[in-house]
Amino acid sequence: MIAADPMTRAPRTDLIDLAMLSDESIEYLLEDAAWLARLQAAEEPLPTLRSGATVATLFFEPSTRTRNAFLQAAHLLSAQTLSVEAESASIRKGESLEDTIATLEALGTDVLVLRHPQAGAAWRAARACVQARVINAGDGTNAHPTQALIDLFALRQRFGEIHGLKVLVLGDLLHSRVARSDLWALHRQGAICLASGPATLLGPLPPWVQQVADPDSVLPEVDAVLLLRLQRERMEEELIPSLREYRARFGMTSERAALLREEAVILHPAPVNRGVEIDDAVMRDPRTLVFRQMQIGVFVRMAALRWVLQGGVTC
Ligand code: CP
Repeated sequence: MIAADPMTRAPRTDLIDLAMLSDESIEYLLEDAAWLARLQAAEEPLPTLRSGATVATLFFEPSTRTRNAFLQAAHLLSAQTLSVEAESASIRKGESLEDTIATLEALGTDVLVLRHPQAGAAWRAARACVQARVINAGDGTNAHPTQALIDLFALRQRFGEIHGLKVLVLGDLLHSRVARSDLWALHRQGAICLASGPATLLGPLPPWVQQVADPDSVLPEVDAVLLLRLQRERMEEELIPSLREYRARFGMTSERAALLREEAVILHPAPVNRGVEIDDAVMRDPRTLVFRQMQIGVFVRMAALRWVLQGGVTC
């Protein structure tokens, strides 16, 4: 017997940045994603979004996982979908973000899922929307809230709780919205946060993140390693000597993976640069949860859609 729908207890809002949400709000979202996953596993009927609800994805940057997980989530919740990719839209003819949003609202959009290269674009979209709710699918180097929820879900599923876990975030923190959202969320949930990467790619770290020069020195004691993609598209100059040197010092090679405990897990938001951030053999390691994270992504996006339409504890 699956428990009653937890989202019935909450009012509605946008989902822009986990840092704006209360612990209670994050709990609702995780609880709802877990409930939906259990329904799916039990082959029970999934709930539907508000009758006739339309979800629009508006992506100004490439995406495989986030965009398709939202579309799949909308489909599973029996919603209508619209999908706009900037490359093939009137944005290329000079249409503003606000006019594109007004167009999507005129077409009946209830939830706008936005990915944009500018930090703060999701806030701008939320201000532009008259009635649609906004979900941030990644804004520049700022935030990727649903990815952080996925990672919290994956860690909870493996360890039961996050409090007290030691998590190493490894790689290009400077350009990573995933790192920003994850570190904040992990800290709020009581994890011990460590960070390592090339000095040129660390950026300013919050005071509660312990900087580690050599990742090998902490690998035997961490519960999880969150690998980050080298975001070369955001680098205006070469910030690492070579990919080979990056792999040698910071890549999750088989040798480095062998330093991890048997119970430890390896996360990566993907897409991965195989042979740079992670070796092929480590991708096949049962401790590597990359494809599990993608499966979880659909349930987290379903919860996010339900949250903004039906729920959302006040920020
Ligand atoms: N993790 C993630 O955001 O992947 P995409 O860029 O493919 O959406």
